[in-house]
Amino acid sequence: MANTRYPHQVKIAVIGAGPVGVTTAVCFASLGHKVICVDYDHEKISSLAKGKTPFYEPNLAKLVKLNCQAERLKFSNNINEAVKDSLVIFIAVGTPTQSNGEPDLTYIKNAIKAIGSAMTDYKLIVEKSTVPVMTCDWIKSTLNRYLPKNIKFDIAYNPEFLREGCAVRDFLNPDRIVLGVETEKAKRLLLKIYQPIKAPKLITDIRSAELIKHSANAFLATKISFINAIANICELTGADIEKVALGLGFDKRIGPYFLKAGIGFGGFCLPKDLKAFIHQAKKIGYNFRMLQEVERINITQREQFVKKIAGQLKLKGKQIGILGLSFKPNTDDVRSAPSIDIIKRLKSAGAKIKAYDPKAMVQAKKIMPDIQYCENPYEVAQESDCLVILTEWKIFQKLDLRKIKRLLKKPIIFDGRNIFAPEKMRRLGFIYQSIGRL
Ligand code: UDX
Repeated sequence: MANTRYPHQVKIAVIGAGPVGVTTAVCFASLGHKVICVDYDHEKISSLAKGKTPFYEPNLAKLVKLNCQAERLKFSNNINEAVKDSLVIFIAVGTPTQSNGEPDLTYIKNAIKAIGSAMTDYKLIVEKSTVPVMTCDWIKSTLNRYLPKNIKFDIAYNPEFLREGCAVRDFLNPDRIVLGVETEKAKRLLLKIYQPIKAPKLITDIRSAELIKHSANAFLATKISFINAIANICELTGADIEKVALGLGFDKRIGPYFLKAGIGFGGFCLPKDLKAFIHQAKKIGYNFRMLQEVERINITQREQFVKKIAGQLKLKGKQIGILGLSFKPNTDDVRSAPSIDIIKRLKSAGAKIKAYDPKAMVQAKKIMPDIQYCENPYEVAQESDCLVILTEWKIFQKLDLRKIKRLLKKPIIFDGRNIFAPEKMRRLGFIYQSIGRL
């Protein structure tokens, strides 16, 4: 296919071929830009170059192939070449959290060192990965250390608001684009890159942009822990959390989203960003007690759910069937998933575990090799003392419940994501327990 030059085309390098980096590279290429996506992991780069993504993200592989064929996108291990051939460099490497909540910026530091030593002329360096407020100050001073004095550069912060499982959609149809800049030149370049996306573009200083990202994730986590706290009150009063959440959501100031009660939030972002925000706030002199409570409620949800199961059957020696391992549907990601925590607690109480997940079993086996993995939900139910639902995959809502009942040793279901209606389950003869409902 001819390499059609897009009038606003900018030459871009994206450092980091993880979910954020690859989605960013693919979407920029889809907008018409010329993009090189770089990673030091040779295996990852060679599989991407063949159009295979090393993680599950709907529509991504198709777009990788399309843009590589159009010669707008390529993958490389050579960061020098990528930096020299590009005007704007996005850093999209991982920022994992250390046990004390402090984000590990090693990957960012390595990227900065490599960028600095490859630069021979002006570049705009854009931090994309989520970082605590004032990290870009450190990026700037670190770059100054590695760059010859006569080479000019600008720094910017352009946070991503991508949800796993719909990252491409979120990138190309964002609620807003946040551009944290210090100079007119950086602002003009970023507006040119994002010109094809019709969404509000918020131009701010860099620290405000850093805080927008952490505050967004902290607020989403707060909404989830709030509705889970209300669910606990529903269980004590016989109210129905689904009805309460519906009633709240009609208020446009509250909105219906992120009010789904359950076993709480997991994933690589919300838990990590919450910890990092609490840690950074403390470091600059603010004790963010509210977010500490959001974290505490989230962990307690898992403990309470296991207590609910233990209240119904003695766990020691029992066979427990688990449906759902990923931290949410439409992803294969199990990082910080409530399922991992809940399975660990059940196992330490002496239960034996059978599990099925449509996408996440490969990832789950890496951290839990010693549980039994099944081919389908019915095999999980076979001879199990109860069934436990931990991820609201659509296929679980379509289960043949009469068949499940026949296969279970006892007709007991614990639903951590409220995917079934209590009255329907009781009519079918199940002992059914869920979250925030009788
Ligand atoms: C999140 C943010 O949504 C996204 O904007 C940010 O860029 C990255 O972190 P993600 O981690 O992919 O995205 O998942 P999300 O869809 O936010 O769900 C996070 C967790 O919250 C999941 O475990 C989900 O099960 C849980 N959740 C979500 C609830 O328990 N209740 C809800 O109402 C919504």
